[in-house]
Amino acid sequence: MKHALVIGGTGMLREATLRLQEKKFNVTVVARNQTKMQKLLEQSSGAHTITPIYVDYSNEQQWEEEIQKLIKEKGEIGVVIAWVHSYASKALPTLIKAMSKWEHNWKLYHILGSSSNVEETRNGLPISQNCSYYQVQLGFMQEGNTSRWLTHSEISKGVIEAITSDQEKRSFQIGQIEPN
Ligand SMILES: NC(=O)c1ccc[n+]([C@@H]2O[C@H](COP(=O)([O-])OP(=O)(O)OC[C@H]3O[C@@H](n4cnc5c(N)ncnc54)[C@H](OP(=O)(O)O)[C@@H]3O)[C@@H](O)[C@H]2O)c1
Repeated sequence: MKHALVIGGTGMLREATLRLQEKKFNVTVVARNQTKMQKLLEQSSGAHTITPIYVDYSNEQQWEEEIQKLIKEKGEIGVVIAWVHSYASKALPTLIKAMSKWEHNWKLYHILGSSSNVEETRNGLPISQNCSYYQVQLGFMQEGNTSRWLTHSEISKGVIEAITSDQEKRSFQIGQIEPN
């Protein structure tokens, strides 16, 4: 059974979460707000499940405990999609270290804002041997002479395209990185 973890799956990645479920993943979603989570759960359908985890990923100890509990109860996680706010600088390292205690291979799709320094971000993470690391950077969409931010739908579509594309490619962009 394929198991995916979506960090921030109730926000701009909501559609991506639902697409993963349609693609026969059991999906676990990390967020804090129960109302937004409920809205997502109401939209889900089919035999494959969406499991909520209510945890603040900036609380290192609780976050690590939730990851270990999740793997023990639901089994190995093959894919993680992570949209993590930059103030929680320990959230991804905590996840990577927690996952390195297990032997299974996994893929981490790290979603980054357009102003992120992708190389610095990659170099700053303790990527373990069992982790294949991918970056998906959010950009802007050209509209006439100007550019606008991506819609949630465009972001989710781009993330799913990255996950289902050529696995040799490690870095993806949705839209153009520089605005007009
Ligand atoms: N270049 C671009 O186009 C670009 C780049 C970046 C952002 N944006 C836009 O910016 C908007 C705002 O972004 P946003 O970050 O608010 O994204 P969002 O995806 O709408 O919301 C953040 C997600 O992360 C969860 N979350 C946040 N902090 C958390 C924490 N400490 N612990 C656990 N879960 C947490 C939220 O759930 P809870 O609230 O329940 O915790 C929610 O699921 C987005 O709508 C997007 O369109 C655009």
